[in-house]
Amino acid sequence: MLRPLAATAGLLALGATAATVLATSPTAVAAGTSVPPSHNGLAMTPPMGFNTWTAYGCNISASLIKQTALALHTNGMQAAGYTYVNIDDCWIDGSTPANGGVAGRTADGHLIPNPTTFPPSTPGKNDGIKVVADYVHSLGLKLGLYQAAAVKTCAGFAGSYGHENTDAKDFAAWGVDYLKYDNCAAPPGTAGNQQQFITRFKRMSDALLASGRPIVFGLCEWGKSDPWQWGPYQANLGRSSQDIQPNYRRVLKNFTDNAMNPPSPAAPLYFNDPDSLQIGTGYGTTLNADASAGSTNIKVSNTRKAVRGSLVRIGTGSNSETAVVTTVGTPRADGTGLTLATPLTKNHPKQRSVQIDELNRTEAQTQMSLWAIQAAPLISGADIINMAPENLAIYTNRDVIAVDQDPLGRQGRVVSSGSHWVLVKPLASGSYAVVLFNASDTEWSGAAATLQSLGLDPARSYASHDLWTKARGVVTGAVSAGTLPAHSSVMLTLQELPN
Ligand code: GLA
Repeated sequence: MLRPLAATAGLLALGATAATVLATSPTAVAAGTSVPPSHNGLAMTPPMGFNTWTAYGCNISASLIKQTALALHTNGMQAAGYTYVNIDDCWIDGSTPANGGVAGRTADGHLIPNPTTFPPSTPGKNDGIKVVADYVHSLGLKLGLYQAAAVKTCAGFAGSYGHENTDAKDFAAWGVDYLKYDNCAAPPGTAGNQQQFITRFKRMSDALLASGRPIVFGLCEWGKSDPWQWGPYQANLGRSSQDIQPNYRRVLKNFTDNAMNPPSPAAPLYFNDPDSLQIGTGYGTTLNADASAGSTNIKVSNTRKAVRGSLVRIGTGSNSETAVVTTVGTPRADGTGLTLATPLTKNHPKQRSVQIDELNRTEAQTQMSLWAIQAAPLISGADIINMAPENLAIYTNRDVIAVDQDPLGRQGRVVSSGSHWVLVKPLASGSYAVVLFNASDTEWSGAAATLQSLGLDPARSYASHDLWTKARGVVTGAVSAGTLPAHSSVMLTLQELPN
């Protein structure tokens, strides 16, 4: 019989603090673990939501944010825990004010949201972000914003350095719930050593605390000054590497950078951030020839970044359908195009839009598993409005999300790395999550991890639950995954069985 799980999930749903989890959950105590509070009492589990940068870059607007929020609200992602709708760079006005002064700031120093893309409630009012925040909040979601510990943001707009208190007060007044704080264009003498990073970022951390509004604080200095060492004392999360991109190599790089740097469990609670989820990200192209129902081939303008095994979405809305690519050929009407695993069910006219994911199905599932076992923020970088059902299913796997959101907040420990990875993460219930991941380009036959290597009792049996296939079994001696194809992974939980 399986040992009953502790009711920690229910406690957290009621807003319990870490202390109450410990006080009321004997298994958490039995696991020999404790949950320190975060520096500001926020983000007791990794933030979940959406960020504009990968899918849209600077092409953002109030309308896009509202549509995305509504999509999250209605497509099942909000119900699964995705809460933060985060506006990245490029929301600030870039023009020089008529009265002279600094671009992006009023004469008395307040940031000006771009009045065209983030229009104010009434002309001349400086509240374009508040307008969006009010809408996002009306759906029960939260709003995130971007700024930089620098003179300019990475895209060249007015930065917050030297304006921290004014900006933090404005963010609070606008209803901002989360701030991603970047690192381009640091003033001379503020980015040379770790202490300088600590001092520069702490100016905003203190300003946010002083604003009186609960605002999650995310560092974004790309792991340059080992932020996992100092971030816990002033932030809730911090990027551990350079920008992620929608391809397997970059996902692997960000995972690897992140996995090697767990924060100290003795410091305030803090999450390493390997950057956003790339499930459903990729590039857009168009049909170069009519594609008819029954066909397993489409001609598109650009096949350059298409990947075997990835999902394509042809059309949008009710016109759309998805299929998996089996062969990547040449572009244009006279090219060999993309071959699909299943015949089209609809007719699609020439010129219809085609979205091509740059992670294949295996890699997409792997990224979700790797982020969850690391207790990484689950922030999607994808187009939520036109999300394919197959990608939505990955994003909303409740069992995988539960591992990420486990109240102990532990980053998975790396048991082995390189071509073949094994990670293990203790859970509040006293059970463990395990991932076996084949990072290599060839199959891993005999993929396995001994109970001993996982820090478990080799003399005991464990009930296993595969979090993707949902298969249940009993493990003795070692977790065996058989043959793992290139870039694939298995993720399961192990719960010790009574003798
Ligand atoms: C940096 C960050 C990215 C993004 C851009 C915006 O590169 O690392 O995540 O915020 O700036 O300009």
